[in-house]
Amino acid sequence: MSLTDPSPQSKEPTVRPLRGEVLVTRRVQFCAAHRLTNPDMPESWNLDKYGLCNNHHWHGHNYILEVSVVGEPDPETGYTFDLGDLKTIIREEIVEKCDHKNFNCDVDFMKGIIPTTENLVIAFWNQLEPRIKHGRLFSVRLRETENNSAEYRGGAGF
Ligand code: NI
Repeated sequence: MSLTDPSPQSKEPTVRPLRGEVLVTRRVQFCAAHRLTNPDMPESWNLDKYGLCNNHHWHGHNYILEVSVVGEPDPETGYTFDLGDLKTIIREEIVEKCDHKNFNCDVDFMKGIIPTTENLVIAFWNQLEPRIKHGRLFSVRLRETENNSAEYRGGAGF
């Protein structure tokens, strides 16, 4: 080995990794329509439970989705999870399938599921979790209106 061609092994590392778990979050917005209805129950029950959200002709929300991954920053990149990669995963698994769609009719992974915010965060988790290859998915939070949101952390989770 010549002095002008140092191998990586012969170099003193200049980067000093830090230990500790860090939570990182990516936020996206999308629009979707739904109707809250349980087709196994009578119409009067549905109207009583869901009120305006039971409207036969659908209604829409501007959803805000926040996906959090936790883990130790990678010693080489300093990232817990590359948020650009997380943005791509959320786009492929959620946004492209749901944006400007109707949860009751258009979204395969919501087939047969009542599209409440609660059910949406569990379904979104199931879509995203297999794609998180380092660190671990910590939470999926979905804001349906200014005042209402739901959050899922997997399994029992709380
Ligand atoms: Ni609604």
